[in-house]
Amino acid sequence: MPERILSSELQSEEASIEQNLRPRNLSEYIGQRRVIENLQVALEAAQGRGEPLDHVLLYGPPGLGKTTLAHVIAAEMGVNVKITSGPVIERPGDLAAILTNLRQGDILFVDEVHRLSRTVEEILYPAMEDFCLDLMIGKGPAARSIRLNLPHFTLIGATTRIALLTSPLRERFGVMYRLDFYDVEAMQAIVQRSASILGVPIDEEGTYEIASRARGTPRVANRLLKRVRDYAEVRGEGVIDQETARAALEMLEVDELGLDVSDRRVLQTMIDKFDGGPVGLETMAAALSEDADTIMDVYEPYLIQLGFVERTPRGRMATRRAYEHLGVPYSESDQPPSKQESLF
Ligand code: ADE
Repeated sequence: MPERILSSELQSEEASIEQNLRPRNLSEYIGQRRVIENLQVALEAAQGRGEPLDHVLLYGPPGLGKTTLAHVIAAEMGVNVKITSGPVIERPGDLAAILTNLRQGDILFVDEVHRLSRTVEEILYPAMEDFCLDLMIGKGPAARSIRLNLPHFTLIGATTRIALLTSPLRERFGVMYRLDFYDVEAMQAIVQRSASILGVPIDEEGTYEIASRARGTPRVANRLLKRVRDYAEVRGEGVIDQETARAALEMLEVDELGLDVSDRRVLQTMIDKFDGGPVGLETMAAALSEDADTIMDVYEPYLIQLGFVERTPRGRMATRRAYEHLGVPYSESDQPPSKQESLF
């Protein structure tokens, strides 16, 4: 698959630009009010006691700012942050090397924390709970274990799939925050802020066009903003107004709800090939030549949020709204009977 303009996953060349647009501290952070408020209290309390923050678990769809929040927390606490991810820490020794290099109060951010291997996880439990590391030295009868003390650090774990976290790991986090898609007002504020950092002239309507089609995801908004800026510079006067934004987004095939060709393909496949479902995830994956995890983590959350797809015990279903959005006639009688009805 080519990289999608609406992908909520971080793309290779974006990392440095994205960094300039990220809020650096809580006062610059827009949206997620509930999480931010809770976090403010936790931060202030920890600072008041002169202690590191409790371990934090952040979960929710990709692109909503889990890594950004880890940087913000580190800045607020005045500590260093080490960024890594579950699949990168392959062996217990890799984790031991990271942990022994931390300093008192430092933050260790582990993205995709549900993908840590069991052996690595086992090293992590005493590290999180007692700030110590149990290492085996040698092999066979001469093997012995030594215990190393670690600095008091804060683990910030991030995951898109909380259900895949083992319960011993989940229980060791002091706080859990769920990041949700941003509402349109927050998205508008984010687009405005990014435009001013990039020095792009943009009016209110232009801001709204981008904000409302960015699927509640800052990373997507920033990407659309940059593409619309290109369009405004090449085809327009360099200013992003409603007309320019609409024309640019139409050229990018991003519709009014923020769906792109790939999203529409998911819905269309569900409707055309499986009569709107229910269809199993693996079957959808095969029909789309996509990875089941990608469908589940990347496409589905927003389609579900829009009320276009439902997860039922019998599989995924396209809803009436999805038919209407695609302009496909919806007929009640084509739908499979509900469980109750089918009993009779
Ligand atoms: N850029 C990306 N996410 C942001 C956020 N939550 N607040 C401000 N700017 C952002």
